[in-house]
Amino acid sequence: MEPAMIVLFGSTGDLTRRKLIPALYNLHRKGQLHACTPIVAVGRKPFTDGSFFEHLQTDDFLKNADQTELERFLKRIKYLHLDISSTDPASLKDAIEGLERQYSCGKNKLFYLALPPQIFGSIARLVKPLKGDDGWQRVVFEKPFGQDTSSAEELNKTISEVFQEDEVFRIDHYLGKASVQNILSFRFSNALFEKAWRKEDIERVEIVAAESVGVGTRAGYYDKTGAVLDMVQNHLLQLLSLVAMEPPSSLESDDIRDQTVKVIESLRLGSWRRAQYVAGSGKKGYREEDGVAPDSDTETYASLELFVDSPRWQGVPFILTTGKRMQARHAEIKVFFRRNGLYEHAKMNLLTIRLQPDEGIAFRFNARDPETGELDQVDMDFCHPCHFGPNTAEAYEALLAEVIRGSRTLFTRWDWLLASWKFIDGVVEEKPTLESYPAGKDGPEKR
Ligand SMILES: NC(=O)c1ccc[n+]([C@@H]2O[C@H](COP(=O)([O-])OP(=O)(O)OC[C@H]3O[C@@H](n4cnc5c(N)ncnc54)[C@H](OP(=O)(O)O)[C@@H]3O)[C@@H](O)[C@H]2O)c1
Repeated sequence: MEPAMIVLFGSTGDLTRRKLIPALYNLHRKGQLHACTPIVAVGRKPFTDGSFFEHLQTDDFLKNADQTELERFLKRIKYLHLDISSTDPASLKDAIEGLERQYSCGKNKLFYLALPPQIFGSIARLVKPLKGDDGWQRVVFEKPFGQDTSSAEELNKTISEVFQEDEVFRIDHYLGKASVQNILSFRFSNALFEKAWRKEDIERVEIVAAESVGVGTRAGYYDKTGAVLDMVQNHLLQLLSLVAMEPPSSLESDDIRDQTVKVIESLRLGSWRRAQYVAGSGKKGYREEDGVAPDSDTETYASLELFVDSPRWQGVPFILTTGKRMQARHAEIKVFFRRNGLYEHAKMNLLTIRLQPDEGIAFRFNARDPETGELDQVDMDFCHPCHFGPNTAEAYEALLAEVIRGSRTLFTRWDWLLASWKFIDGVVEEKPTLESYPAGKDGPEKR
């Protein structure tokens, strides 16, 4: 990879410690970071380099690190104590350019904004003077990118005053998962499935992302957001785009993203249900959680029936479901194939793409039970870590590597984001009555 300075804003936060630093360490360990890749951690807490390294090593996120290699890795990191909320652009420029001269690693810069979204715009402006003609400058934004169409448009306008679209990398960490990247490869390299990927052969598709945890310490954010904005607008619609897209004209980033945008533009809402968890399985209800209003109307569960109005998918329901405090943590895509043939008791063939945990793909089909002569359902199962090994790059590792390479396939393009917000604005407007489900169950009673 090319040399580049990585500037982490929000470096004292949870995301940096839990995901970004372990991912950068792994890239370093695998020899995928150029020797000239200093990491400047910008923060307003008064850490020294030493106390920052100690902070990074609390909670064991680097517990499996080889100590000698970790020490080498930590030499890349410089903590820059600076309160960006009160810093003027010239001071930040002086500080970063001073470090640039010290490291002599060239002018490429990757700015990672692991910050609350409310300050994305002001930080983009702060960084503006650091943009020069030499080297590349890329900026990475975390989700959420806006809360609705108009706030997303406003944020994008601010950002585009500083950065070109091809310099902007909007993260949806689901796209960094190896099992999600495999959806495209699976669909378009296996003729059998590619041919059957259409309304004539597929009866319905279900996409689920269930969490067993509750709202935890994120109530302040979550109570204003809810399941649709937190999970559906981004992760679940991204998965739907990959499942429903037409074949791209090539595997180039923009050809793929052109097709995913078309899926979102042709979405139609059938109906949806929203619910909130109440006490159950020894866990408290959502309204009893710290920081949640006692009369909160926020949904912690959403299930949407959507249709993709294209010739390929006309009439096929796509059911997207997500929730907190559900029975078990899992994310998967289930494709139900239409029944066919001589056997009237034959069950539908089912393809399950497991995204987490136990990444893999299973295909369920009918087979004759030799004892009874009846049909039974049996599985063919591909286990991703069993075949490819347990050390597949974590999502953030893959995403950071792609930004440094300048490849944009795994990032959200503005037109996709805009289309998704327009669609979600319509969903939120149609807000159905809030239902409830006991913590530990997979949502409200079936109707
Ligand atoms: N954590 C995750 O797993 C996760 C997952 C997906 C997306 N995200 C997104 O990633 C971003 C960061 O999340 P996080 O979990 O790391 O949050 P966090 O733990 O609250 O950390 C936020 C960071 O931003 C800094 N900060 C907050 N307000 C600031 C201000 N006004 N001026 C300057 N610095 C300020 C904090 O500095 P101080 O320490 O000085 O307060 C801290 O370093 C958010 O956009 C979040 O939505 C996080």
